[in-house]
Amino acid sequence: MYSEKTLNHFRNPKFAGEIKDPDAVGEQGNVKCGDMMRVYLKIEDNVIKAVRFQTYGCVAAIAASDALCKLAESKTLKEARKITYKDIVREVGGLPPIKVHCSVLGIDALKHAIDSYVKSPKNQEGKESKGK
Ligand code: FES
Repeated sequence: MYSEKTLNHFRNPKFAGEIKDPDAVGEQGNVKCGDMMRVYLKIEDNVIKAVRFQTYGCVAAIAASDALCKLAESKTLKEARKITYKDIVREVGGLPPIKVHCSVLGIDALKHAIDSYVKSPKNQEGKESKGK
């Protein structure tokens, strides 16, 4: 049912855990299934220097969370915002159609984290729009 890549992200997640003293945190839950993801970011000069996740959820949600972190690491905030669920599905080697929605959880959590960082008064200098 799941691809080897999905199972590998699930069994050996490289980005599981939390970041102490993160620059941004974003959360997203799915009310239908109760799954929940939290993403932690360390940001320098609008670049994601470190990213970790905590996910309570199904195999696909955990694999997708790890894949999201892999795709987001070292990206600028602007680039990270462009990651789509399709990129995640590709990264995990495809998902069964009924599990594709699990890949959306991380996208939304990441966007919440980036939004909270950009809107934070201490980061209000519009750095994100300087072309990074
Ligand atoms: Fe809820 Fe996978 S079943 S995110």
